[in-house]
Amino acid sequence: KPTSSSLQTDILSYLSTHDELNTWTYANEHKIDHQLVIGTIRSIQSIGDIIKIEQHTNRSIAPSDEGKLLLQNGSYEYNLFQAIPADKGIEQPELMKFPNATIGFAKAMSSGWLQVDKSSKPAIVKRKVENVHDEVQNLLKRIQSLELQDASVKEVVELKKRKLVEDVIVNYFIVTKSSEFSTNIAKGEAELTAEMLQTGSWKTLNFKQYNFNAKGMMPSHGCLHPLLKVRTEYRQIFLEMGFTEMPTNNYVENSFWNFDALFTPQKHPARDVQDTFFLSDPAVTTTFPEDYLEKIKKVHSTGAFGSIGYQYEWAREEAQKNVFRTHTTAVSTRMLYKLAQEKIFKPVKYFSIDKVFRNENLDATHLAEFHQIEGLVADYNLTLGDLIGILYEFFRKLGMTKLRFKPAYNPYTEPSMEIFSYHEGLQRWIEVGNSGMFRPEMLLPMGFSEDISVIAWGLSLERPTMILYGIDNIRDLIGPKVDLEMCRQNPICRVIPAKIEE
Ligand code: PHE
Repeated sequence: KPTSSSLQTDILSYLSTHDELNTWTYANEHKIDHQLVIGTIRSIQSIGDIIKIEQHTNRSIAPSDEGKLLLQNGSYEYNLFQAIPADKGIEQPELMKFPNATIGFAKAMSSGWLQVDKSSKPAIVKRKVENVHDEVQNLLKRIQSLELQDASVKEVVELKKRKLVEDVIVNYFIVTKSSEFSTNIAKGEAELTAEMLQTGSWKTLNFKQYNFNAKGMMPSHGCLHPLLKVRTEYRQIFLEMGFTEMPTNNYVENSFWNFDALFTPQKHPARDVQDTFFLSDPAVTTTFPEDYLEKIKKVHSTGAFGSIGYQYEWAREEAQKNVFRTHTTAVSTRMLYKLAQEKIFKPVKYFSIDKVFRNENLDATHLAEFHQIEGLVADYNLTLGDLIGILYEFFRKLGMTKLRFKPAYNPYTEPSMEIFSYHEGLQRWIEVGNSGMFRPEMLLPMGFSEDISVIAWGLSLERPTMILYGIDNIRDLIGPKVDLEMCRQNPICRVIPAKIEE
């Protein structure tokens, strides 16, 4: 068998002395697999404008599936003949137990290979000739190797009747020389190296073209990423607690819903390019619920709803800017606004788990994109006690019972609390989340009555996933360095709730 590079040379030298090359007849004449010829043609094509190809189709014949079996193992009649002991023959019923004996016997008889002695009971089948040739297998070999392609030949017609040979459509190519034709083509460079860039040699080098039609390796199976597995666990916990999932399918949000509606002043550092990704196209959103926007403007600039506001010039342009949402609280805000528009208020428990984006300096614990888990409850006259109570319940389901709360600040919650949990392994308190009660400056412009309060909390999905899977670098979890084998092999991690102590 020729190697593909020697075949490449052969094909090019053939073309240098011929006007054209027919892949089918070429394969035929040189007794090479047609697919190998086509593959080589394709790889020559990928080097540059060396050859032109034109596709044609042709009718031909090929061994059928059954034909291929006979090609490998010999014909039924031949094998049956071989099964008969040369001297004494074999009892006919015994012979007929042989695989495919009915066809084999009939064919062998009509070829005059056998004689049947009916004088004894049961009849004895004996060889009539000393030696036979397996003509069927031979024909199939010739057809397979393209030596025999004429469907009108008597023997071929016979094989077609026996369904050992079938008609096939062959795609072949007519190959001709093109502008850059040469028998001596330099193998294109497959990789751009640092050296090529330094010496500038890349400018004149011939690069192999990408074959975008190449089929990739089929993955043996899919698998869930650890973040998705842990997300499922958290989702389950929220569902058990009677929470409904919020729709989080928009990574792009405008500053109005991400910041302004959350009473985050327009000069807040989080609204700086240092911290947030702004979109350039489309850069702005222009449609808002205008009456709501007016209320937001008022509560920021001059104050309203019993608040003195921030006392600054609130600019619509700033609110219009599109950003990659910096927190899923933007989703909660939209959902709360929708809820406030309902004629009759009904208490709700909502949650979400999805991606957010921040312009962070990347290191082992920070990425520019990560997931937030967020829960909220809207009801009449909720207190800080309700928030603390629900946090104990939620974190108990995550296996954490020792909690501490530290006063904190968020523009949109008052009071706000950072949540700490005692880590038995580390023997210290670690921060596990952030929480608070949404401010009246956020809820009242939406249209909620004053006796409705909303408690909420948020945490990252990455931190608990890293702890559960023993991963100490967040970049092993997201990004180009993720080890797919790690994803395949990692088991489901169960989040085990802590027992309620007496
Ligand atoms: N949005 C906050 C954050 O990004 C989390 C939070 C959610 C805080 C809800 C209070 C209430 O960290």
